[in-house]
Amino acid sequence: MKVAVGSDHAGFEYKELIKKHLEDKGFQIIDKGTYSKESVDYPVFGESVGKAVSSGEADMGIVICGTGIGISISANKVPGVRAALCTNEYMARMARKHNNANVLALGARVLGIDLVLGIVDQFFSTDFEGGRHERRVNLIMNIEKDLCK
Ligand code: RB5
Repeated sequence: MKVAVGSDHAGFEYKELIKKHLEDKGFQIIDKGTYSKESVDYPVFGESVGKAVSSGEADMGIVICGTGIGISISANKVPGVRAALCTNEYMARMARKHNNANVLALGARVLGIDLVLGIVDQFFSTDFEGGRHERRVNLIMNIEKDLCK
């Protein structure tokens, strides 16, 4: 599986740790930056990861900023993206099972790294349940289809 990852300066260190964690498990990583701790603007990286997922360049994405809020909002502006900000492992499982989230958003200033890696593992090992949840996810996607007419 190809995973696009992106962060601002606040999420940079966690991005590097998550990359290594996933590479060790055999995932292919596409790093959309940022590439240092120098201050940058999170929307740039939310958009970049979002576009990688939306275009099919990546199967899934991970975005990280200080709280995870700004970069998840940014990624969600890209058509086809369902970015879910998760603060525990249960949310990560539900984001996949019920919402078919294709981008995981994380807050580096909110969560410890052990919890973050646990969230990542749950997200990538849980499948979408479909069924009644498919109808609801389709309703979400119809919102952007209607707005893009
Ligand atoms: C950067 O200081 C911070 O605003 C950013 O990482 C993020 O928390 C925004 O939502």
